[in-house]
Amino acid sequence: MRTYLVTGGAGFIGSNYIHYMFKKYDNEIRIINVDVLTYAGNLENLKDVENRDNYTFVRADICDAEAINKIFAENDIDRVVHFAAESHVDRSIKNPDVFVKTNVLGTLVMLNAAKNAWEIGDNVYKEDKKFLHVSTDEVYGSLEEEGEYFYETTPYDPHSPYSASKASSDFLVKSYMDTYKFPANITNCSNNYGPYQFPEKLIPLIINNALQGKRLPVYGDGKNVRDWLYVEDHAKGIDMVQEKGRLFETYNIGGHNEKQNIEIIEIIIDTLQEMLPDGDPRKELVSRDLITYVADRKGHDRRYAIAPDKIKAEIGWVPDTCFAEGIKLTIAWFFEHEDWMKNVTSGDYQKYYQEMYK
Ligand code: NAD
Ligand code: TYD
Repeated sequence: MRTYLVTGGAGFIGSNYIHYMFKKYDNEIRIINVDVLTYAGNLENLKDVENRDNYTFVRADICDAEAINKIFAENDIDRVVHFAAESHVDRSIKNPDVFVKTNVLGTLVMLNAAKNAWEIGDNVYKEDKKFLHVSTDEVYGSLEEEGEYFYETTPYDPHSPYSASKASSDFLVKSYMDTYKFPANITNCSNNYGPYQFPEKLIPLIINNALQGKRLPVYGDGKNVRDWLYVEDHAKGIDMVQEKGRLFETYNIGGHNEKQNIEIIEIIIDTLQEMLPDGDPRKELVSRDLITYVADRKGHDRRYAIAPDKIKAEIGWVPDTCFAEGIKLTIAWFFEHEDWMKNVTSGDYQKYYQEMYK
């Protein structure tokens, strides 16, 4: 039975990945989830897997080399899937330090722990051991022209402290592959959306605010473009790259779904109005009048767009869920999980929100 060490599995994409993997492999795999549970980590995301015999949660910081080495010493880890990171651009603008610590130094700890556990000779590793580093398209910087795309060969040009820290971590992984022949892959994915996404990110924030009749903050002119992918398609891509991809290669993951932020907000408003039953008091609250243009994000990247040609051609990955369907699935999930939203938006979230949007 293959053993996975997943970092950051209590966050948005990590928890969706764990659900995806158990749905796909059931009892054929074992997953150890290591997460320190920052504001973004939530064990509620994993309620339906927590009692499985083939699932273990370890609360630990990826920067804590002793704790991470102990997990490798006590378990024969076959796959590492490394999600754990500070992930929000706006937070990185206010407080870059923790981004460098977790995203750069934490990745270094993970690389060293896996290398020490797996290396059996000089640059020779135990058979069938693989490390996958989950990264972002934001490392490539900002596209200014229509028709331009991010390819795996596009030079890195990060602008935010978040993307700079992710770029640094990618370079560390690349350096381990080049120097030590360390068995790894990197994936650079576009913006994700779906169940369990923390409402500091655009899509869940807009859904949550609209349902309460709160203003919908749009940065700048609202015409910045992001390339949105349903989170389960990302999970599928990660698994396919790890099992079918060529070692030492980078794969971009994205579904050609570029939209301006203002379009996203309008689609959410229209979809909420369509999905809310007549008589539901929230239906009266949801309105385009809530759209409020606010100060632009500092250093706001204009446009992201992934060219997924390589992952399609080499591995056969294509997304299953188009945006029209994915946004409905996401909204339906938030309707069914009002308590989840209430729990994550109480306490510290209120402080963050007041400070961010004052
Ligand atoms: P998230 O913020 O929802 O989750 C991050 C998780 O990592 C949380 O559970 C948190 O508790 C954990 N964590 C943070 N610091 C830690 C530490 N020091 N030790 C252990 N655990 C720690 O993030 P996400 O959106 O799920 O993103 C996951 C990964 O995917 C990140 O590496 C991110 O850069 C990458 N990514 C995200 C997107 C996106 O649209 N969200 C797109 C492409 C790539
Ligand atoms: P976000 O979800 O933070 O992801 P990222 O910055 O990693 O792309 O933001 C997506 C886009 O939405 C980005 O262009 C910033 C914009 N945005 C708003 O206009 N208003 C908001 O309140 C937020 C959170 C984001």
